[in-house]
Amino acid sequence: MDFESMWRELAPVGRVRTGGYRRQPFTSAERETVAWFRQECAARDLTVEEDPYGNLVAWWRPEGAAGDAVLTGSHLDSVVEGGGYDGPLGVVSALAAVDALRERGHVPAVPLGIGVFVEEEGSRFGIACLGSRLATGSMSWESARELRDRDGVAFGDVVAGGARSTLVEGVGSFVELHVEQGRDLVHREVPVGVATMIWPHGRYRFDFRGEANHAGTTRMGDRRDPMLTFAGTALEAARIALETGDRATFGRLEVSPNGTNAVPERVTAWLDARAGSEEALRSVVSQIGSSASEQATGHGTSVDVTAESESPEVRFEEALTAEVSRRSDGGSWPAIATMAGHDAGVLSAAGIPTAMLFVRNPTGISHAPAEYAAPEDCLAGVEALADSLQRLTR
Ligand code: GLV
Ligand code: MN
Ligand code: MN
Repeated sequence: MDFESMWRELAPVGRVRTGGYRRQPFTSAERETVAWFRQECAARDLTVEEDPYGNLVAWWRPEGAAGDAVLTGSHLDSVVEGGGYDGPLGVVSALAAVDALRERGHVPAVPLGIGVFVEEEGSRFGIACLGSRLATGSMSWESARELRDRDGVAFGDVVAGGARSTLVEGVGSFVELHVEQGRDLVHREVPVGVATMIWPHGRYRFDFRGEANHAGTTRMGDRRDPMLTFAGTALEAARIALETGDRATFGRLEVSPNGTNAVPERVTAWLDARAGSEEALRSVVSQIGSSASEQATGHGTSVDVTAESESPEVRFEEALTAEVSRRSDGGSWPAIATMAGHDAGVLSAAGIPTAMLFVRNPTGISHAPAEYAAPEDCLAGVEALADSLQRLTR
């Protein structure tokens, strides 16, 4: 099946009324994408290996192939109401690149794998790149098993877990293709680019506590309302990040008891913060935390800040990136930095030489239904990926 037929088949899976996707890990929609992937691998005689956490690698190991493996691929899960391209574009392009290599008569001299990492978005269990963190051993099973989703289901309830993953052992390089999550390539008027670095970023839980009370009978001056402390903190976060050029987003909120006619007792808010350096990230998070504490004192509330996951700055491997950026016409694809997180960042931090290819997104929108890549740009991405994989597996 060619790229466009594969894309058509996968497109309806997990799509909801808004046009966005709900492919949270280990839900039926996401499992359907995984079953689809396994079927496409079987049709290509690729051998699928799964680790105890649900991460997959489909191997093309021609007879005699030996040495460090080359891995490509991405993820199939989405954020809540996400776009269809973030993740799946890398997986479908990898399958299409294998087809292209076979059509060219190329036989890899080293094993070539297509990886699918679970819970890249952290949309269910909260930790970004949970699967690749477990696959590389940068997160332990002991700390992952008790992570809970919004309904209280533990990660340990949905995966076998336990044993150490050996899935990426023997992998010598990883090339992830991804939809661009901005408009850099639109301005440069090219369909494909390569990544230079990933901004350091993290997720921080803010637990604001106050006093539950009646919305009518409690005088305004007598309240200890954690919603006000949250609201003030969100405004300050935006002001600080605007001033420093960093990013600060509160995109998720839980209010308890969440009743229209009650002052809340508790507000939990998750801050996603990103910055151009680790020092700048620490500084922006600490400024937001201090502002929250100051405001809590003024409101008679309290706030506790917990770092739930942090991802260091990643600089992609130069030699591999140079290889991946080579165009068939002798030129090179432009290099751009990214503020988004990727499994490629986790593999890179684990010492695996890593590079990324981006495919132009005309809307520049991502993590939302308007995310898009034109079919001809997707095909340019497949060709760039196939060219890279061909050179790397010679
Ligand atoms: C993942 O896409 C992230 O950057 O949050
Ligand atoms: Mn994403
Ligand atoms: Mn992604």
